[in-house]
Amino acid sequence: MAHPVRGWNTWNNYQCNITEDLILRQAQAIVDLNLSHLYNYIVIDDCWMSPERSLSNELQADSNSFPNGMKSIADKVHDLGLKIGLYTSIGETTCEGLPASHGYYYLDAATISGWGFDFLKVDTCGLTREQMFNPAPFYEQMGVALKAQERDIVYNVCNWGIWEPWIFAGDFAASWRTTTDIFPTFWRVLQIVDYSESLAPFSKPGHYNDLDMLEVGVSGTLFNWEWTPKIRPLTHVESKTHLSLWAIMNSPIVLGLNLASPDLDLKLVEILSNEKLLNLQADPIQRPARRQLVKTEGPLIAPTSLFTGFLTMLPHFCFSPLGDCTYVEIWTKQLSHDALAVMVFNRGSSKIRDVKVSLKEDLHYSCENLIVEDVWNSDFSYDDELYTLTASKVAPQGSTVFILTPSSGICSYNGIQHIDANNFKIDSNRLVLLLLLWFISLRFIKS
Ligand code: GAL
Repeated sequence: MAHPVRGWNTWNNYQCNITEDLILRQAQAIVDLNLSHLYNYIVIDDCWMSPERSLSNELQADSNSFPNGMKSIADKVHDLGLKIGLYTSIGETTCEGLPASHGYYYLDAATISGWGFDFLKVDTCGLTREQMFNPAPFYEQMGVALKAQERDIVYNVCNWGIWEPWIFAGDFAASWRTTTDIFPTFWRVLQIVDYSESLAPFSKPGHYNDLDMLEVGVSGTLFNWEWTPKIRPLTHVESKTHLSLWAIMNSPIVLGLNLASPDLDLKLVEILSNEKLLNLQADPIQRPARRQLVKTEGPLIAPTSLFTGFLTMLPHFCFSPLGDCTYVEIWTKQLSHDALAVMVFNRGSSKIRDVKVSLKEDLHYSCENLIVEDVWNSDFSYDDELYTLTASKVAPQGSTVFILTPSSGICSYNGIQHIDANNFKIDSNRLVLLLLLWFISLRFIKS
């Protein structure tokens, strides 16, 4: 595959309230909105299956919500020119307590392939405590079972980043989740980004860190738990930043918003249609972006050195009684032929900012004769004598992404490199976070 999967999934917006009709309407909407060349996988998450396997032990569709069966919906989605994905778990039950694949990996892979599915998301629920400590062999067996099918099935490992799936699944899965679930607040989006940034070395062509599904246009509750407060959906500005980060970090981009809604916000559709941005994922060298540098000024409340760790649980902020502060992140994504994508993100300020980036000093990028374009068409200026790029009027929580392409002359880039994955070490902050994730995951363990 030339880039990570992009598509639409039922879970973030609908959880278990899914039907064949709802999914087909979303698939049709993707086509009608002219998004199908960008987002072509329709994925049915948890709750599609009947509480009982068939007499010959196959998984079967819930007859109320999928009265025509899974092959029928797969055929209909294919007829729209799209691909289709399904969900199971590596344990005995899904996270919603329905039958999952433990003990039936080969049978389930064959059934799903026979129905015509092109993608499989495999969760970690329903394992015993002992199995939960070492899920890798089970994921590997499922990988072998999928490979044995005639159909090409994209394999997504949903291990919530707990048992280092980037190591155990790095070679056989197309992608693996780096964290537990996303929910529709911007600070959760940023937590996932902070946690996943240092995992960039594990991402390679065909095998990607999965930062979870997008929350653009999705509203819901805090932590996705019914009894927690309802939170506002992301703003347009936040949505652009969310999409940009997922794109440059080479994550799968799987939407969740109701695309068939009569009240669909067309501005969001416009944001999601940014082909230039999404195309960065298809760059042949497939390097995920790294956070190149952080520019701070003023009374910022956040120990920046701890950004990859536990303290990202607390959103950092500017302490306004002491004056405004600046907290700007510059991300770089190396592209083929010495080109570079540069994201400027006004993360911590409450004010609109002009952000100046020196290509030589800040990015260690020295190239003559650059063509500079901004994928979001924002205002910017480029001084080709001083090699400085200025993004104008970047809104708080806003960002923009430049593509710098050398047209001729000498070019070199010595910025943050794609470090060797073997040198990756778990730091103490990450360990604390992992323990926390582990604690949260206890609720999914089969006792
Ligand atoms: C979680 C998973 C979610 C969703 C849910 C379904 O474990 O992270 O993305 O698939 O299970 O129950």
